[in-house]
Amino acid sequence: MDGAYAETSLSALVARVREHAAGRAGRYLLGIVGPPGAGKSTLSVRLRNALNVESPIAEIAPMDGYHLTNEVLRASGNLARKGEPDTFDTAAFLDNLRRLRDTPIGEPVPWPIFDRAVHDPIPAGIVFDRQTIVLTEGNYLLLDDVGDREWSAVRKLLDECWYLDAPRALIEHRLLRRHIRGGRTPAAASTKVRDSDLLNAALIDTTKTRADLVLRQRGRRYELRS
Ligand SMILES: Nc1ncnc2c1ncn2[C@@H]1O[C@H](COP(=O)(O)OP(=O)(O)OP(=O)(O)O)[C@@H](O)[C@H]1O
Ligand SMILES: [Mg+2]
Repeated sequence: MDGAYAETSLSALVARVREHAAGRAGRYLLGIVGPPGAGKSTLSVRLRNALNVESPIAEIAPMDGYHLTNEVLRASGNLARKGEPDTFDTAAFLDNLRRLRDTPIGEPVPWPIFDRAVHDPIPAGIVFDRQTIVLTEGNYLLLDDVGDREWSAVRKLLDECWYLDAPRALIEHRLLRRHIRGGRTPAAASTKVRDSDLLNAALIDTTKTRADLVLRQRGRRYELRS
């Protein structure tokens, strides 16, 4: 959480997206990256809803939709590592980002979403059609390649990428609460946070320098790093 931050507002962020998107002929793809529990999904929903006040011009394309299924992870013995960079279908994520870029506005592009109730992706949970602004949000948008996962190709498909930062203690508290709500015992939640989430968060933190903008949250407000 280094550097000086100055208060910004959701409307200033929305104005920036509108302005940058207006300069593009096709779809405008904005990435929102950050550690687990930082508030990426919340920020994305707030941005989308504000952008869509007059007409539906924006939609969210969550990276979470590309979690490998529990069945696949269980079969390969990787279920406990779910959420780490090699437990996603990076190639399919890249393919669909390309499809969003290449498909003419008005033609359907299905996008999977992650269902936190069943802990598995739902194919075609969202269908893009006329939207010209895509908010793609997730943990690994600015990562280097990991094994055969070509994460470094993601940034090239984005017009811009923002990093939403959050203090480690806040992330830890939110993730513990979420895991317990999701059915884990407090001890199992604590193990998951310590042995998986916080390690992922530390890896993601190394990608912050690649972001076009670094934000953090203050209550319901946002601050921008200068
Ligand atoms: N601006 C905010 N003020 C207060 N609470 C917030 C805010 N943004 C997010 N939260 C809370 O923090 C938790 C995590 O937020 P969110 O799900 O948006 O994070 P995320 O970065 O998408 O996490 P993940 O990477 O695990 O998907 C949620 O319980 C949410 O309600
Ligand atoms: Mg999220």
